[in-house]
Amino acid sequence: MAIAVYPGSFDPVTLGHLDLIQRACRMFDRVIVAVSNNPSKKHVFSVDERIEMLENATHGLPVAEVDTFSGLLVDYLKMKKATIVIRGMRVVSDLDYEFQMASMNRRLYSKVETVFLMPDDQYTYLASSMVREVARMGSPLEAFVPPFVAKKLRLKFKIKR
Ligand code: PNS
Repeated sequence: MAIAVYPGSFDPVTLGHLDLIQRACRMFDRVIVAVSNNPSKKHVFSVDERIEMLENATHGLPVAEVDTFSGLLVDYLKMKKATIVIRGMRVVSDLDYEFQMASMNRRLYSKVETVFLMPDDQYTYLASSMVREVARMGSPLEAFVPPFVAKKLRLKFKIKR
């Protein structure tokens, strides 16, 4: 059974993340979307809120499940008996950070394989940070996030519409 873990902040989940989750679900038997719980990082949404949005977004995907992890990703992988890490590769500028992270993870746990997936072209520019920025300004969000997440963002930033 091939178990893949897709770790990230997901603050919040975007249509780009969802595109990758769908791709991963077609490739692996089990896809665990793992929300990082790192108290030293500032997030707009709490871990519970991020999990709720992901659970809502992945509702129709039986292969996907949502979980959270703290500490080292490799320790979480060992606990889940997983060796595959999914990460998105949108643009060349992602490569530096992703390469470092994949190398470090493999150094810490030699069985780890990081699989990079490319989202659909329409999501190449999409990032949670940009979605948060756009949401703060009160712009429509439906092209970037699932409707449930758009609602949560409007509530968070007290946008009336
Ligand atoms: O969505 P993000 O913020 O790019 O995700 C980064 C994340 C959570 C995958 C990464 O920071 C992570 O794996 N953190 C856990 C701590 C860890 O294992 N660090 C060593 C590898 S860099």
